[in-house]
Order: sequence, then C-alpha cells, then structure tokens
Amino acid sequence: MSKFEKSEWAEKKHAMEFVENADIYILERKRLFKILKSFYQYFLLNKELKRPIRVLDLGCGNGALTMELLKEDDKLQATLVDGSSEMLKNARENLKTHSHMNFIHKTFQEFLESEVEGSDVLTDEFDLVISSLAIHHLHLEEKKSLFHYIYNHLNSDGFFLNIDVVKAPVNKLESWYRVLWSEWIRENQSNLKVETNFEYLPLQYKNNPDNHPDKLQDQLDALKSVGFQQVDCYYKYGIFSIYGGMK
Ligand SMILES: C[S@@+](CC[C@H](N)C(=O)[O-])C[C@H]1O[C@@H](n2cnc3c(N)ncnc32)[C@H](O)[C@@H]1O
Repeated sequence: MSKFEKSEWAEKKHAMEFVENADIYILERKRLFKILKSFYQYFLLNKELKRPIRVLDLGCGNGALTMELLKEDDKLQATLVDGSSEMLKNARENLKTHSHMNFIHKTFQEFLESEVEGSDVLTDEFDLVISSLAIHHLHLEEKKSLFHYIYNHLNSDGFFLNIDVVKAPVNKLESWYRVLWSEWIRENQSNLKVETNFEYLPLQYKNNPDNHPDKLQDQLDALKSVGFQQVDCYYKYGIFSIYGGMK
C-alpha cells in the first residue's frame, strides 16, 4: 500500500468532510483565494499572452483553486492532479462546463517516480503551478524533489504559488499560532451561524501523523536552491502562508 493510500485523504469520508466544511475552518480561506487571484491578474493576465494561460493545480481537491482562477480568466487551460479519486470526481463535476480541463489521478510521489524512471506523466510546460494545503503532507526531502519537478515543468518566467500550513520557528510560537487559529474558527463560526464546532481542529492537526509541515524559511531556501527567483512569502497568518517564486 502506498503512503497516500495509508493517509486519511484516501478515505472518501475525510475528503467529503473537507469539501463541505473547509470554508468554516481554513483560516481566512476567502482572503487566500483573493491573494491568489490578485497574483494571477498581476503576474499572468498582465502579460497579455496571445494564447491561453496554462495552469497546473497540484492536490486540487474538488478544484476550488482552479474554479477561483476561472472567475478571473475563463480561457485558462488547467491540469488538475490529485491522489484521491473521490476528490477528482468532485473536481470533474465542478468543472464540467469548462473545456480544456485535464484531470490526472496520481500522487505526488508517483509523479516524482515517473520523472526518475524517464517516463514522466507530465510532458507539458505551465505558466503557473498552484497548490493549496497539500504539499505539507510531504517530508522536506520530498518537498525539495517536488519543487524541482515543478521548476522543470514551468515555462521560463513561469510562477509557482503555494498556499500551505508551515511550522513555526519555535514551539512557543507554534502553540500560539494554534490558539490564533482556534480563535479565528470561533469567530468565523459565529459569523456564519454554523452549529458544528471545529475549534478542536488545530490540536488534531498537530497530532495528525499525515501532516509534515516544515519551517517557512526552509521551504523558501529549498525553492531558491532549485533555482527559483523572486522567492518570498506573500502572506502569513499564524501557520497559514502563501509563498512562491518565479523561474
Ligand atoms: C486539504 S485538501 C486541499 C484541496 C484543495 N487544494 C483546496 O484547497 O480546496 C488536500 C488535497 O491534497 C491531496 N493530496 C494529499 N497528499 C497528496 C499526495 N501525496 N499526492 C497527491 N495528492 C495529495 C488530497 O487528496 C486532497 O485532495
């Protein structure tokens, strides 16, 4: 059984729980999407390419990020990748009215292996690679390999943007960041008038063996070492961050 198959994301129930409730407990999810769309407008749409922009969405889930970008640019072409067949089924359904959507059911590990074996699954080059809340499931060495893989699949001047949870530099900050997250969930639940309480999630996140968040600085350094330029953290609120770079 692969690492992914052993993880909670292989379970249909877990996937559906995320799809139904992410807006309640993912800290500032709407703002994360707004920043992604601003980035897309500023760095990609402003280029005024004479062809559709090509996007790779890694760990796409139900296609939430691609759906946000389609609001800015309904001509974009996207390749959506996920290890979970349930998630991909949802993504296909959500994006069924859009042409030029390509879905690949593979894990990140399978992509990396296919490249090493010389039978790379992805032959295209992309203008933008995006990911949200998926890469923290990899260990740092795997993250580095994935960053390298992403770099190899970007056009020159292409971009990588990752929305993800990161590890705080010291434990005291890590525990405060979890409190910050709980406080935000409480406030958001009250604003949305939802009855289910998700304030337990930050602690569950900490104890979940499927999560391998690394320090932000280590990930920025890894991007630079692969060759990315203009590497920076574009947003951060507790453990939630947006970072990336340009090829
Ligand atoms: C928290 S969900 C995020 C989904 C979507 N990006 C979003 O923000 O709404 C994480 C997704 O990453 C996928 N995932 C986790 N580990 C993966 C791996 N090793 N390979 C491929 N997909 C993975 C899961 O199946 C899941 O759909």
